[in-house]
Amino acid sequence: MRRKLAAGNWKMNGTSADLDRLATLAASHGAAGCEVLICPPATLVARAADSVSGSAIAIGGQDCHAAASGAHTGDVSAAMLKDAGASHVILGHSERREDHGETDAQVRAKTEAALASGLVAVVCIGEKLAEREGGKTLDVVGTQLDGSLPDGVTGETLLIAYEPVWAIGTGKVPTLAQIGEVHDFLRTRLEERFGAATGGAIRLLYGGSVKPGNAAEIFAVSNVDGALVGGASLKPEDFGPIIDALEASAG
Ligand code: PGA
Repeated sequence: MRRKLAAGNWKMNGTSADLDRLATLAASHGAAGCEVLICPPATLVARAADSVSGSAIAIGGQDCHAAASGAHTGDVSAAMLKDAGASHVILGHSERREDHGETDAQVRAKTEAALASGLVAVVCIGEKLAEREGGKTLDVVGTQLDGSLPDGVTGETLLIAYEPVWAIGTGKVPTLAQIGEVHDFLRTRLEERFGAATGGAIRLLYGGSVKPGNAAEIFAVSNVDGALVGGASLKPEDFGPIIDALEASAG
């Protein structure tokens, strides 16, 4: 049985004034029946971890460097995130792949660094609109999956987020059949590479314009084990109902 997880990605949003949103979320959903993860900007990780301490809400980073330390101005290592109170880190988000040219090989190296530091990696993959329209979606996500994951991952140390690039922040969502097709494909691919037990235990999140109004139907799709939520994670009044829908889907 895979435990459901609702993750919020604040992206480059939030200052100390926004930490009260976390306190609100912790008060209402701090003992939720599913896992809840919030990934604020790196500047807030330590204080966010303090804000939710005592609740079941976990805090994660949005990226880390592949090296443990060294001359990498402006970067943050996995060990630093862990030290600041993070338990998870998002890696290979399409905005990192786009803005910083991150390749599958780099995402794989970052994932290795995260696992070595004891962080759970949330590795993102997803096709662009032209790839979807060109019928290349499964090829693209399969290649990203293969290239972005190191050997030796487990259901406890890794999650995958399938995020069609064209659905992120656009209000456009694939059909439920399209989501199901990709998630079923990813499940099979994980089982082929890591074996049935491990491949069957790795959770698959859907991300891209998840909102309170569409969460329940997305969570009913096979092999959808939760969501990675951007815009709607910024407000507890939006993210709370998404967590509720996920809990309801877990039965
Ligand atoms: P969105 O972002 O929910 O705002 O579409 C999702 C993401 O980028 O993780």
